[in-house]
Amino acid sequence: MLFKDKLISDRIPKHVAIIMDGNGRWAAQSGNERTFGHEHGVEAVRSVVAGAGEIGVQYLTLYAFSTENWSRPKDEVDALMGLLVQVISDETDELQKSNVRLRVIGDIKSLPQNVQEKLAWSIEKLNSSTGLTLVLALSYSSKWEITEAVKRIAEQVKLGKIEPSEIDNELMDRFMNTSEMPDPELLIRTSGECRISNFLLWQIAYSELYFTPKLWPDYRKEDLFEAIYDFQNRERRFGKTSQQLVS
Ligand code: FPP
Repeated sequence: MLFKDKLISDRIPKHVAIIMDGNGRWAAQSGNERTFGHEHGVEAVRSVVAGAGEIGVQYLTLYAFSTENWSRPKDEVDALMGLLVQVISDETDELQKSNVRLRVIGDIKSLPQNVQEKLAWSIEKLNSSTGLTLVLALSYSSKWEITEAVKRIAEQVKLGKIEPSEIDNELMDRFMNTSEMPDPELLIRTSGECRISNFLLWQIAYSELYFTPKLWPDYRKEDLFEAIYDFQNRERRFGKTSQQLVS
């Protein structure tokens, strides 16, 4: 039986976040350059976006480029930026047909101008979609996001618009890049690495973590369904006891 058919439809996570990892290692297995892995990672993105839409996930956040990725060799960074522009150009019509909306989180102003423009074009074009929201984390890191939030809150305090005593979880949420979305219930990382790498640290306080050895270019929607099946069979206690959950 396929994992998709085993899923409980009213317990699909609203928000799934994925650390797409292993492109470089995947390429090396066949003696190719790292960018070959990134190019083949696009097929995995396509499949996972389609799968998330099919089962009613509302938000799918993909860690596509971290703040730390800027220190990779210039050729690789340029190739990734070029790939991003190409994929957005090629896929926006299909995303529109699939009723997918696009959002980005991260230090967008640090991206090359052509990438910013292509993203803005696609976001605008997909703005009336009502299905899955695809969130691309680009030039993103959680420490950057939290630091920016603190700076903006401090400015508001200085202007007398926020009292320090008003700063609580909800207010912090409003200053995060993810303010319009629920926190991810499930975070997936591919490639066998078991770390978070500066991704959504604030938002994953109570997320379920799922690590798979599969390298990103081999990942497909059925793998996503397997992760969600695993998620649906976990007990989420949020600090309570099992007994309290039953009663
Ligand atoms: C991590 O693998 C992957 C990335 C840094 C880039 C992810 C990009 C894509 C999947 C392509 C395009 C994406 C979109 C959203 C259009 P790695 O390079 O760190 O792999 P390694 O750990 O094996 O070296």
